[in-house]
Amino acid sequence: MADGSVLITGSSKGLGESLAIIFSRDYQGVILHGRDIQDLQRVRQRILESNRGKDVLCKIVQGDLTDSLTLERLAEAARGNDVSVLINNAAIISKGYVSSFDEKEISYLLNVNLVSAIKLTGKIYPHLAARGGGMIININSKSGLNPEENNSLYSASKYGMKGFTDCLRMDAKKDNIRVIGVYPAGMHTSFHNSVGGHSEIEKTMRPEEVAEIVYRSTCYNSVHINDIILERAR
Ligand SMILES: NC(=O)c1ccc[n+]([C@@H]2O[C@H](COP(=O)([O-])OP(=O)(O)OC[C@H]3O[C@@H](n4cnc5c(N)ncnc54)[C@H](OP(=O)(O)O)[C@@H]3O)[C@@H](O)[C@H]2O)c1
Repeated sequence: MADGSVLITGSSKGLGESLAIIFSRDYQGVILHGRDIQDLQRVRQRILESNRGKDVLCKIVQGDLTDSLTLERLAEAARGNDVSVLINNAAIISKGYVSSFDEKEISYLLNVNLVSAIKLTGKIYPHLAARGGGMIININSKSGLNPEENNSLYSASKYGMKGFTDCLRMDAKKDNIRVIGVYPAGMHTSFHNSVGGHSEIEKTMRPEEVAEIVYRSTCYNSVHINDIILERAR
């Protein structure tokens, strides 16, 4: 069994849920996070059922990532449950040309997708360093690598996340903290529902398969994987 537990932001559904299920099999516990308490309880139930007979801890922290109290409660849960892997996964999307975004929408998206992840990482980093090391996995997107029309706000948040990830990796090496960036293409989740759905949803990647690849990338001792870039097979 791997050392410590795993904290995954945005694990009430989608990729975060799949990551929570697969990491729970090998780690001592999982800290779930999201806003929807019913979804969080459903995921918790799935974890308990898939680990029946094992003493796996599954804690829920509910709250919006733009609320500083949520970040504080997540950091407290990380320290209290010896988190060794932090996965910054939660994000939202907005589509449109730059003039279509109002100020609130711009601030909120950048806060959820980027600023909150930087703040949370800063709060949990000292715990990871003090325990002698760990992993930080930042879930990015192909939109953090390649420009795309109509996607400037979301892309800005993900390009920012790439800069954060790449610099953090250099800074964290001395503390034995490994940093992985994950850059998936479209996945079969409800992520695009708020922008009218994904036009080719049936051809997108299954979050369970993406989660399995992310999990496997943490399993090697002599090899570190910097970035995982995932394309749709179809
Ligand atoms: N789906 C894709 O096509 C795709 C492609 C490339 C990259 N990605 C990236 O993959 C990651 C996961 O996406 P997904 O497809 O799994 O999305 P999803 O199914 O919509 O799940 C998003 C998660 O983030 C949480 N979340 C959203 N806003 C939040 C907020 N303000 N405060 C707290 N939690 C919040 C949601 O929780 P609640 O609903 O409970 O609030 C949910 O658990 C994201 O970083 C996304 O950018 C997705």
